[in-house]
Amino acid sequence: MLQEDNAQREGKIYGGKVTPLVLVICLVAATGGLIFGYDVGVTAAGSTSSNEFLRKFFPSVYIKMKCEMDDEDGYCRFDSQMLTLFTSSIYMAAMVAPFFASSVTTAYGRKTSMILGGLVFFVGSFLGSAAMNIEMLIIGRLLLGVGVGFGNQSVPVYLSEMAPTMLRGALNIFFQMAITIGILVSSLVHYSTANLEGDLGWRFPLGFAAILGLIMALGSLLLPDTPNSLLTKGQNGKAKELLQKIRGTEEVDEEFQDLFKASEAAKKVENPWKNITQRRHRPQLVLCILIPFFQQLTGINVVMFYAPVLFKTLGFGDRAALMSAVLTGIVNVLATLVAILLVDKLGRRFLFFQGAIQMIICQTTVAVMIGLRYGSTGEGFFTTTEANMALFLICAYVAAFAWSWGPLGWLVPSEICPLEIRSVGQAINVSLNMTLTFAINQSFLSMLCYMKFGLFFFFVLFQIMMTIFIYFFVPETRGVPIEDMNRVWKAHWFWQDFVRDY
Ligand code: BGC
Repeated sequence: MLQEDNAQREGKIYGGKVTPLVLVICLVAATGGLIFGYDVGVTAAGSTSSNEFLRKFFPSVYIKMKCEMDDEDGYCRFDSQMLTLFTSSIYMAAMVAPFFASSVTTAYGRKTSMILGGLVFFVGSFLGSAAMNIEMLIIGRLLLGVGVGFGNQSVPVYLSEMAPTMLRGALNIFFQMAITIGILVSSLVHYSTANLEGDLGWRFPLGFAAILGLIMALGSLLLPDTPNSLLTKGQNGKAKELLQKIRGTEEVDEEFQDLFKASEAAKKVENPWKNITQRRHRPQLVLCILIPFFQQLTGINVVMFYAPVLFKTLGFGDRAALMSAVLTGIVNVLATLVAILLVDKLGRRFLFFQGAIQMIICQTTVAVMIGLRYGSTGEGFFTTTEANMALFLICAYVAAFAWSWGPLGWLVPSEICPLEIRSVGQAINVSLNMTLTFAINQSFLSMLCYMKFGLFFFFVLFQIMMTIFIYFFVPETRGVPIEDMNRVWKAHWFWQDFVRDY
């Protein structure tokens, strides 16, 4: 590990500073995270959908839900595959879309993908909120997924390419910040409209999403493309000018040369998909697969999607359960700020470790508490003190995710790939992230029903595995220029063998 630290210190330091222009550009670009966050919130609301909505589109689910409220087993009360399949159809579309987005992002630039993502999301929200039948509703939902697939594929890469090296972590995490704000806004909109009379209770929240799609599309329209994208398109003069502007200095030659070399190498690559499977790209490929896998197996979306259901099962009343879900949403936003402040000072590895250990402690304690009180029947109760303690532990777990695996799951894959495979690397990351999100949303309620409180230990097991994985296989990338990342692998005890000759 010492070897890696030395490699980092000996690395290049480009000239330039953090300009107000680059801050504004990154803030606007990060709004692309809002649409993903809003969808996570929509999924959460799916588990507590308005009666009106269920009666109209899912009458059988509605009847089943009403009848099953008195089911014997407390762990199985809310299991309803049909409705979850519908809500998670967003993620099905978002699994596939990044593969198309990666071609658009490579050929036409990151900006084009972002505009497209925002527009498709806008149309999807519009269709969904105006839905007269289930077909319109489903097409709308699939379009939302396509929008998210395009956005998540292009925005993190855009941010990592625009940001100056010393602040790349913080500026990239603006994206996660927007995700958490999207989730919070979504839960507030859903909960405050749930009691509206008639259709408005579900049409309004779906329609509200259109505003976020519009913000993303219009915002991206105003943004410049990244210097890397401009070089790829052969606009070298424009790329250099932009680099000088965003770095606030004329002295950008060294950085520009590195970007130029990277873009020349990228132009020679005929098939980036074949390229990423080459031995020399093994570290990037493995990380782009395992990071989203582990990010989702922290179990975060169990809390994000099912917090109200979870809190209800733990004995909170309806309102208190909803309020607790809003509380976790607020903690999520605030804790992301911690990541922004620390990621370029303490590094990625520190946050990965600290966050995981906190998650392990919190989730294990909650699992033991539930096991002791609810046993294997799911029948039992928490005293008020115990319920508050569980709430506190769940908030501490969310905070830990929010300053570690949440933002780093988007930051690290977007900064480790050389230009020639950056778009496809990110496509793999997004697609796997969405696949796992889909699988967890789809199976959580059944898993809870079968594994009972043991389900929480299942996630703890993965948290332990991911911490070992980070320790041995993920080197520190803080302060390393994005086009100079190869030396990090060259200094790594395991990966150096793969990249030795490059
Ligand atoms: C994850 C989402 C999660 C969100 C919570 C993101 O980084 O990819 O699955 O819902 O964080 O804030």
